[in-house]
Amino acid sequence: MSAVLPVLVAKLSNATAAAFGSQYGALDPELRPATKPEFGHFQTNLPLRMAGSLGQPPRAIAEQLVAALDLTGLCEPASIAGPGFINLTLLPETLAAGVNEPIVFAPRGERVVVDYSQPNVAKQMHVGHLRSTVIGDALCNVLRYVGYEVIRQNHVGDWGTQFGMMVEQVLHEDLQVESLDIEGLQQLYQRARKHFDADGNFVELSRARVVLLQSGDAETLAIWRQMVEASLVEFDRIYAQLGSPLTRADVVGESAYNDRLQGVVDDLAAKGLLTESGGAQCAFLPGFAGRDGSPLPVIVRKSDGGFGYSATDLAAVRHRIDDLRTDRIVYVVDHRQGLHFQQIFALCRAAGWLPEYVPAEHVAFGTVLGKDGKPFKTRDGETVRLASLLDDATSHARALLDERDALEEPARAAIAAAVGIGAIKYADLSSDRINDYVFDLDRMVAMTGNTGPYLQYAHARLSRLLTKAGWTEGSGSVGVLVTPAEQRLALLVAGFEGSVQQVAETLQPHRLCTYLYEVAAALSAFYESCPVLSSEGEVRSSRIALCVATRRVLQDGLGLLGISAPDAM
Ligand code: ARG
Repeated sequence: MSAVLPVLVAKLSNATAAAFGSQYGALDPELRPATKPEFGHFQTNLPLRMAGSLGQPPRAIAEQLVAALDLTGLCEPASIAGPGFINLTLLPETLAAGVNEPIVFAPRGERVVVDYSQPNVAKQMHVGHLRSTVIGDALCNVLRYVGYEVIRQNHVGDWGTQFGMMVEQVLHEDLQVESLDIEGLQQLYQRARKHFDADGNFVELSRARVVLLQSGDAETLAIWRQMVEASLVEFDRIYAQLGSPLTRADVVGESAYNDRLQGVVDDLAAKGLLTESGGAQCAFLPGFAGRDGSPLPVIVRKSDGGFGYSATDLAAVRHRIDDLRTDRIVYVVDHRQGLHFQQIFALCRAAGWLPEYVPAEHVAFGTVLGKDGKPFKTRDGETVRLASLLDDATSHARALLDERDALEEPARAAIAAAVGIGAIKYADLSSDRINDYVFDLDRMVAMTGNTGPYLQYAHARLSRLLTKAGWTEGSGSVGVLVTPAEQRLALLVAGFEGSVQQVAETLQPHRLCTYLYEVAAALSAFYESCPVLSSEGEVRSSRIALCVATRRVLQDGLGLLGISAPDAM
């Protein structure tokens, strides 16, 4: 479809110029998919937009435009609808060409940094990190698909004053950190916290320990490293279970910026961007105010002399621009950090670290809720461990397969994992990311409705049909498209590229989900009115080719979302 759309736009523009002059020909026809099948395939409201300055009724403009428009060989004659819309209906052979056309996104010669996942050392990953990981993976896939060079940056929370406290507690208890897993670390943190709150002497020791850590004391660093290592082992396990491509190579934790923090302060000071406030070094930027209207600073250096979360993010931007030479930066972080990122971006622009032509985008997402509508927690109010959620999803899917007595072992176990994990991911991706959503496993793994398993099933069913049809890789292309149902399916299948392109621009994966769901629905309608196996000749081969193209779209689309598409389920 990518080949025919620009042609239609050019023909519309030429006709507009011929009928009304070149200044009108320069207007974007804004060709959009028709909202209803009876309106054909594409629609433009150009006559409505021209009516004001031409001083003519839009329908009259539409008539003149259509008279100047020659779409022979591409579309049915254009029709005019409503107050002055122009509707275009592609010829079946144009649709067929759209399906057969190979998809090619050339390399853009541009780099994008995607900052995502970002769990914290010595803490269990929670559903917020699940969202960041799932959305981030999908966006990385899509951006790479459309031709970007993608650099993943897992900004792990591995630095800060809490580590002084924890190292001190390790020494106090004479603990072997190697023996701890993530749960053990989390408990260690809680003991250290209690100790800190109760014992003034321990507070002093912890503060001194932070200084030792930040200045590179060998013993302190060794203990800290073991904590990081034990945490990364757990993160790796979760990434593997999720099927995320994130590896150790993508981890550039907060600690990595330690040596650049002083430079951040010095540079900002030299540029006159720092003000002392209550002993802290702050940057006050125009336009940032608290609820009460008081100016809201970025605290670059705290009053105790330590650097915080903001300083690290400032250093990270500089690294990404100066060293990674990125053309675009994307942060997949929950919406509550929106203000933080707006401040970081504004300060980096003010300091000249982030050039105007490099977009920095906060890809914000909402909260995962429990069935009670409150943030998702365990019964005792603890954060839900991701690992147990993923296990639950897999056993849920497993129970459904058992019920249907589908597949033999070991396939059944493997498919259960693919379906369970796919269900969780799809549920996360399928609604607008800015919204909260309720974590409801029963609904997520359901085989009906807009769910991952529904799409996986549509794909598996196509695979089975193609096997039965004796189809072999590489054979056949769409020739004739006889019925409205197959034309509708062809139109959708040909729109894959455009749909992916849209996700790359808006960074909203739910658009791809909606698209795939429409494809699956059109496929159901196609099955109902278009027999495949029992049809004959050119109709049969064409329908098989349409099935092949549909299967490819489902498989590639799910793949971009990070969801596997098994051939049977
Ligand atoms: N580790 C943080 C958290 O768990 C998120 C970090 C987001 N990325 C960043 N560059 N600040 O909330």
